[in-house]
Amino acid sequence: MNKILTLQGNHTSVVLSYSIDMLPQIVYWGDKVAFSQGEEEQLIQQLITPVPQAFLDNQVVISLLPLLGEGNFQANALAGNRQQLHWAPKFGRVELVSHELNALVFVAYDDTAQLKVQIELRLNSWDILEKQIKLTNLGDNDYQLDELLLSLPISAHVSEMIQFHGRWIHEFQPQRSRIEQPCYLIENLKGRTSNDNPPLLLVGNTGFNYQSGMVYGFHLGWSGNHKIKLSVVDDGRKLVQSGERLLSGEINLRSGASYTTPCLYASYSTSGINGISHNFHRFIRQSKQFATHILPYRPIHINTWEAMYFQHDITMLYQLVDRAASLGIERFVLDDGWFNGRHHERAGLGDWFVGQSKYPNGLQPLIDYVENAGLQFGLWFEPEMVNPDSDLFRNHPEWCLQLSGYQQRLGRYQYVLNLANSAAYDYIKTCLVNLLTEYSIGYIKWDMNRDLVQAGDNSGHPSMHEQVLATYRLLAELNQLFPEVEIESCSSGGARVDLGILRYTNRVWTSDCNDPYERQTIQEGCGIFFPPELLGSHFGPEQAHTTNRLMTLDYRFFTAFFANLGFEQNLLELSDGECNQLREYISIYKQYRHLVHSGDLVRIDTHDVGQKIYGVISSTQQQALFAIAQNDFPQQMVAGKLRLPYLVADKLYRIKLLNAQENTGYLMKQNIPLSRQELILSGKVLTHIGLQLPIMHPQSILLISFDEVK
Ligand code: DGJ
Repeated sequence: MNKILTLQGNHTSVVLSYSIDMLPQIVYWGDKVAFSQGEEEQLIQQLITPVPQAFLDNQVVISLLPLLGEGNFQANALAGNRQQLHWAPKFGRVELVSHELNALVFVAYDDTAQLKVQIELRLNSWDILEKQIKLTNLGDNDYQLDELLLSLPISAHVSEMIQFHGRWIHEFQPQRSRIEQPCYLIENLKGRTSNDNPPLLLVGNTGFNYQSGMVYGFHLGWSGNHKIKLSVVDDGRKLVQSGERLLSGEINLRSGASYTTPCLYASYSTSGINGISHNFHRFIRQSKQFATHILPYRPIHINTWEAMYFQHDITMLYQLVDRAASLGIERFVLDDGWFNGRHHERAGLGDWFVGQSKYPNGLQPLIDYVENAGLQFGLWFEPEMVNPDSDLFRNHPEWCLQLSGYQQRLGRYQYVLNLANSAAYDYIKTCLVNLLTEYSIGYIKWDMNRDLVQAGDNSGHPSMHEQVLATYRLLAELNQLFPEVEIESCSSGGARVDLGILRYTNRVWTSDCNDPYERQTIQEGCGIFFPPELLGSHFGPEQAHTTNRLMTLDYRFFTAFFANLGFEQNLLELSDGECNQLREYISIYKQYRHLVHSGDLVRIDTHDVGQKIYGVISSTQQQALFAIAQNDFPQQMVAGKLRLPYLVADKLYRIKLLNAQENTGYLMKQNIPLSRQELILSGKVLTHIGLQLPIMHPQSILLISFDEVK
């Protein structure tokens, strides 16, 4: 007999049906529901769907683990074999191991294929559905696992999807498509989360946008190869599947051994993409799974990379510290170039000892100087990598991931260390522990700058999966040994931004691109799933190094504002006037940092494609802060009104423009009142009528605050 089980989140529910010989299936996932007495039995009856002609005789259930062996032709979630046998399993003997209000665990067995699955599903109080599966080989001989996907059904009303394609310095570009039959695939084989295909997906009804529509968001918490597949099966049902993209022969389960998938995180909302963001942001901020907060606030960085690249000059570093301190910057991060032999990108990686030619007395004098100036000291590492021109490689070429018989490919002139090799792991760990013990380092920028190719271990077996686990293990050990040290996940910019690595790291480097024009879109895409305080965003030089574009100070500063602010330029190039301006803006940032880093992020749908409007609202709705970023030339000369349906209708708000509007004189004869004075308007007026915006130049930005009048 079929049984019904329910999981309850805060605003959503998941309803499942199962029987002892049928793996559970999700029959509903949406707005919160509760059943009246006896209704569940009726529900089971009415869920029996018609079977079309020319299909298999009984309906093919899309369970939590849909299988080819059951006739799930397009949605098979498990592939593998035992010496060419047991390649089409079917699970029975279903046992409900535990069921609470928001979590359940099932196990099921295939006695013929000698396999056991354990499926865990949790709908947490932030309305994030978490799913993981563990597969165990109960047979006497090896079982080769090729694929194990996490499947979740979506409504038949879903008709559009947004994926986030990109590349280096151009990450997280939203790409919308219409969903037709039969399937869409996002696949990544780069051995890291990747700049181009992060494991993120939004799907929803026609025209879903930030402020309205039914939307589902999916994210796989894994920092290696992955895939996300969206299928419309032959009878029209739709589902999303995701998991690790295993290499051929990568997972060989010996008798009794298990494989556990990464966690799939998913959410449903009827309040548009903003609803998905709220769920993910709150979850990431509050769940104990993630180590995102160590300090009570997110320090403002100065990072040396674009200020000096490999040309570390101690006099200039001291001047940089002084200038940073005088501006109100709080953390000094010494980027690449500080260790032995690291005078350019072709040498040194792996030799984690302070470079004597640049720092003859070690790092202590610099650290003392930084700390005396009131800043925290942070240091760059790239622990997983080794240059052929390094002592480490000369002594241990066998510690690299490689396939014998082939010339291993270089990426940024470096190889990848096999961290699953215990000797290599111990060496790297010892280097890191020694440095973290010797020096007072409050922050690590943990970089990872190449894709993995032919990543074989010492026996020549594929080792992408093991490499990710070993990296996590190393980070976890450091977290334990140095709980005060914050770690940033950087990978050629934003190539390792995911909830797998964020279990051990506290910040992500969103992109190597500090050009605010590009950053507006990069941060928009990344910020849908990840909250602003996690995203490193740096004020760069007037002419961006990665694009050569010239951008104003305001546009650069206020684009980096809705994130964890930092600076990445030679601050000594700034004029006195610019320093004064930045001092004022940094004090505004400090005043609003808590709000930006804790409030609900919302984006406003505008008709002007060149304009982005976004902001944060405090949980009490007493305060809000919005940015109007005019990235391209306005579509209409007279700008629209900013309507904010997020404040309390009957309360009054003091509205203030926080940065003087730049260079609008040529486009505009007369400015709006807000440019001269504060305004007071009610939440009701702001919801329905809105605030008139000025004419803005392309590549300009305004910051507007809303404070409840007591
Ligand atoms: C790539 C990073 O994304 C940059 O920020 C910088 O740290 C360089 N690596 C240093 O090599």
